[in-house]
This record gives sequence, C-alpha cells and structure tokens, in this order.
Amino acid sequence: MTEATTHDPVSNLSPTMLEGHVAFITGGGSGINLGIARAFARCGAKVAICGRTEERLATAAEELRGLGAEVAYQTADVRDPEALQASVDHAVAELGDISIAVAGAAGNFFAQAEKMSPNAFRTVVDIDLMGAYHTARATFPSLKKTRGSILFISAGQAYKAMKYQAHVGAAKAGIEALMKNLAVEWGPHGIRSNSLVPGPVEGTEGMARLAGPTGDEMWKQAVPLGRYASTAELGAMAAVMSGPLGAYVTGSQYIVDGGSGLMTSAHISDAVEKSLFAQE
Ligand code: COA
Repeated sequence: MTEATTHDPVSNLSPTMLEGHVAFITGGGSGINLGIARAFARCGAKVAICGRTEERLATAAEELRGLGAEVAYQTADVRDPEALQASVDHAVAELGDISIAVAGAAGNFFAQAEKMSPNAFRTVVDIDLMGAYHTARATFPSLKKTRGSILFISAGQAYKAMKYQAHVGAAKAGIEALMKNLAVEWGPHGIRSNSLVPGPVEGTEGMARLAGPTGDEMWKQAVPLGRYASTAELGAMAAVMSGPLGAYVTGSQYIVDGGSGLMTSAHISDAVEKSLFAQE
C-alpha cells in the first residue's frame, strides 16, 4: 500500500455535501475522472458519466451505484458535439438538470513536435480543448438553470514546458484560457468555472503512458511530496471546488500536484529522449 492509498480524504467530507446535485463527467469511466465520480457519489450527488467505451462505463456505473448514487451513462466521444449533446440530454432526462459539469476526457502521448503528423497534434487538441468546449456548450442550459459549476481537468503542461508534449501543452493552455473566459462570461448567470491541475496520479492510463518509457521512480523524484496522488485525492478536491464550499470560487486554477509544477522536468525529458527518440 502506498501513502496515497492508505488515507481516504473523501471520508472527511459530508455524505450530504452534494445532495440535490447532478454531475456530468466526461471520461468518467476511468482514472482521475472516475475518482471524481466516486467522490461525488459518496458526497450524495447523482452522477452521469460519458466516455467512448460502453463496457468501461457499465462497470464504472455499477461501482458508483454500489456507493449509493443514482447513475446514468451514455457513450460519446467528446470530439463529436452531437454525440456529446445526446449524452448530456440522456443524463438530464434520467437524473435532472446538471449542476456540476466536469470536462475530464483527455488524450496524451509523447511525440516530437516537428515529426508528429498534423492529425496527431489535432487529435489531442480535439479531445482535450474542443472536447472541453463541447462539454461546456452542451451543459450550459442546465448550468444556467441550476446556477451550477464547470470544472476543467488541466495539467501542469498548461504553464510548464516539457519536451515532446507541445500538443498537450497547447491544448491544456487553451483549456485554462477557456476556463477563465467562461468564468467572466457566465459568472452573471451564477455559473462558476474553474480548473483542477493534477500532477502524477497513480493507477491511471495517463500515468501509465507517461511513465511507460522511464519508470515511476523518476516521476516521483520530480514531486516534492515524493509520491503520486491517488484518484481519491483529486476527487475530494473536485468535490470541494464544485460544491457549496467553493461557492465564491471562480476563474481559479486549483493545483493539486504535490508541488511537481515547481520542479524541473528536464531529467524526465532526457530519459524520454533516450528511451523513445535515441535514433533521431
Ligand atoms: N506518436 C505520434 N503520433 C501518434 C501517437 C504517438 N505515440 N499516437 C497516435 N498518434 C497519431 C496517429 O498516428 C494519428 O495520426 P495520423 O492519422 O496522421 O497517423 C493521430 O495521432 C490520431 O491517432 P488515432 O490512434 O487514430 O486516434 P484515436 O482517436 O484512436 O486515439 C489517442 C486518440 C491517440 C489520444 C489515444 O492515445 C487515446 O485514445 N488516448 C485516450 C486515453 C489517454 O490518452 N489517456 C491519457 C490522458 S492523460
């Protein structure tokens, strides 16, 4: 057991904190987004999840129901605005108007800026940035009615440069700008807009992809707290920001990264270079 898995931050939150809330979470079938869905469920919210894989959503939905939540799911690729709108409409029909939207779906891989195809760059921008916009747009009518909140899942690459992550940095920086613009534009409707910036998180597909070429130790050395986060730690912060405790917080970036954004990632870039691009 790691330090991250031996404590349970969500147990410190009230099980009724999000009672009466309906959350819609993209990418909610796995990883950080499922951690957020679990935290919301344990705080009393109804939870809708969407993602590309039916089986993954069905498994996650069963787990969330086991936590006592009413759950809805419908597959959608966040790159497809019509499919995403249909998934949102399904969630509203099943659970009621959405009061918490989480734009979490993301894609990532290491690639050299000059060598990746335009389609590779576009794919990450489409999933991360366009997907976040599609989520905001599709949930706006509900959020306006409920005076709700939208939370964007960002990353340190939004403000910290790293080799072989140009596509991800561009997409995540765009998400931060979108988050701030919506805070200003939608604030008068009572809608809050914030971002959550994770560092390395254990047991996620994203981390498996990023640490694949280098191993975990190198990443942990780049975290002042010396360890990965758990998905529950991100979930607990998402619940705090999205619920009544965050009522006056908008336009804010919540950095929940163990301090990793303050550290250099040069040794990781060097190791990735050796592992993936040594012959270039
Ligand atoms: N290096 C360079 N280019 C890559 C790549 C890599 N490792 N992986 C994919 N690409 C390119 C493909 O070659 C393709 O470009 P092309 O048409 O010019 O050849 C483009 O990216 C799209 O790839 P494709 O596999 O068709 O896209 P997809 O929609 O099936 O998958 C990804 C999207 C690539 C982001 C995939 O990694 C994914 O599904 N990720 C989701 C999970 C994830 O990344 N989670 C972590 C979040 S932090």
